[in-house]
Amino acid sequence: MRICLGSDHAGLELKARIFAHLESIGHTVTDVGTVGPTSVDYPDFAREVARRVASGTDERGVLVCGTGQGMAIAANKVAGCRAAVVGEPFSAVAAMEHNDARVLCLGQRVTGPGLALLIVDAWLGASFAGGRHAGRVAKMEPGSVTG
Ligand code: RB5
Repeated sequence: MRICLGSDHAGLELKARIFAHLESIGHTVTDVGTVGPTSVDYPDFAREVARRVASGTDERGVLVCGTGQGMAIAANKVAGCRAAVVGEPFSAVAAMEHNDARVLCLGQRVTGPGLALLIVDAWLGASFAGGRHAGRVAKMEPGSVTG
C-alpha cells in the first residue's frame, strides 16, 4: 500500500517508529516532514498528507502531533479527506470500516509506540464496509445536497 506520513516536532519520534514498521512489512512509505526537532506548524503537514490521500497519490495517510487533535482538525478541512484521532484498535477498525477515514491521527504525548503500532496495523487491515455507511459518508462531503 502507498502510505504517506507527516508530523510536527511533537510527533517526530513516533512517526519514525511508524515509518520503520511500515517499511519493514512491505509498504511504500513517503514522509512529507517535518524532519527535525525545530518547532513547526502542524497544519502545514496535515494539509499535505490530506491532499495526497484525497487525490489518490497515496492510499492512506498517518499524521502524528502531540495529541493528534490539531492534525485531524486541519486534515478534515481538505475536501475528500476524512481523518480520525484514534487511541485504541477498536476505534481504528471502525474509523476505516464505518467512516472511510483514510487518514489516521495519533498523539505522541498520549499513545505509546507499542499501542500506536497495534492501532496502525488494525486500521491498515480494515477496509471501508460501504452499504449504509456510504450514504452517511457522502452526507459529510462539502456541498452535499443531502447533508
Ligand atoms: C505542539 O505543541 C502541539 O500543540 C501539537 O503537536 C498538537 O498536539 C496540536 O494539536
